[in-house]
Amino acid sequence: MNRLSHIIDLDMYSVEEWNMIISTAMEIKKDPSKYSERCKGKIMATLFYEPSTRTQMSFQSAMIRLGGSIIGFDNPSNSSVSKGETIGDTAKIVSTYSDILVMRNPSEGSVKAAALHSDCPVINAGDGGHFHPTQTLTDLLTLTIEKGGLNGLKIGLCGDLKYGRTVHSLLKALSRYKDNEFILISTNELGLPGYIKDVLNARGCTYKEVNTIDEVISELDVLYMTRIQKERFASEEEYNRQKDVYILDTRKMRSAKKDMIVMHPLPRVDEISVEVDKDPRAKYFEQAGNGVYVRMALILCVLEGKLSTPELIKGKALNDISCKNPKCITHKEPHLPHYFRVAGDIAECEFCDERTLLD
Ligand code: NCD
Repeated sequence: MNRLSHIIDLDMYSVEEWNMIISTAMEIKKDPSKYSERCKGKIMATLFYEPSTRTQMSFQSAMIRLGGSIIGFDNPSNSSVSKGETIGDTAKIVSTYSDILVMRNPSEGSVKAAALHSDCPVINAGDGGHFHPTQTLTDLLTLTIEKGGLNGLKIGLCGDLKYGRTVHSLLKALSRYKDNEFILISTNELGLPGYIKDVLNARGCTYKEVNTIDEVISELDVLYMTRIQKERFASEEEYNRQKDVYILDTRKMRSAKKDMIVMHPLPRVDEISVEVDKDPRAKYFEQAGNGVYVRMALILCVLEGKLSTPELIKGKALNDISCKNPKCITHKEPHLPHYFRVAGDIAECEFCDERTLLD
């Protein structure tokens, strides 16, 4: 199996490696023009099977600012995907046309499946409701700039904690820094999945779950708002029951600390009213802008060999067990080996992290 610096989940790397990416991004932000030739002659492919504005364009802008070139698609119906090509075959071929591959796909674990077949490093730009590691790097850079560091923060995460991949990756990352406390603000239906809570518990993190912004906003250093992920719901009725529950407005902001910051990965629907944009504590547009610098730093670190080359699969193939998660790539592409990490009587899917109890 190939050993390349794929970025599927940030947990594949050490905190020191993340900090290196963040400090490189801070350097780049001071004077991006100094880096304009660093990726001359390199090609990045962006394969987006799901809509995107910020992630796709900031990756493309980052590569162009580094002097490299871009190829790719954002409408898979125009590519051989529409003819039934597997994600592995697409990745295998495109990796021979490029030096780095960036992929977004609606199936959970899909980008890891692509990486297993790719001859160049693959970056996860969002795999369904699972992970979004490069948004997390953007968030870590923003927190470093705005709050001066990544330790000792009280962070409220609000909205769709069930399907919100940005929240999953961010919580996993912040749980590896010191003394952070998390307040999970959601309806009971859209609470954090078990596999992320397990990570928080295993790392001894302090967190509590509440249903309203009002009861906690005055305690927070950071409020991370998210959109209800309409496209992940089984039906329109289910989505309609959840939408419009959380709206951050100027009345609520009055109870917040003077130095609390508001973040949001964007796009927003109506969960932050536009009047909040004028509040100096609203940092979501700066956050989106930081995405370019952090992606420049990430591309540089990957292409210049500054990161380790972790193993993609740690467990083994148990092909008679099927992953319980219907959104897992192993159901869409049944030829994939069913890789699981086994601990006691629990088998954890290596693609989507869903846990299955073994008999
Ligand atoms: C997020 C995503 O795609 O997960 N957007 C982004 O990448 N900035 C958040 C969202 O779609 O709600």
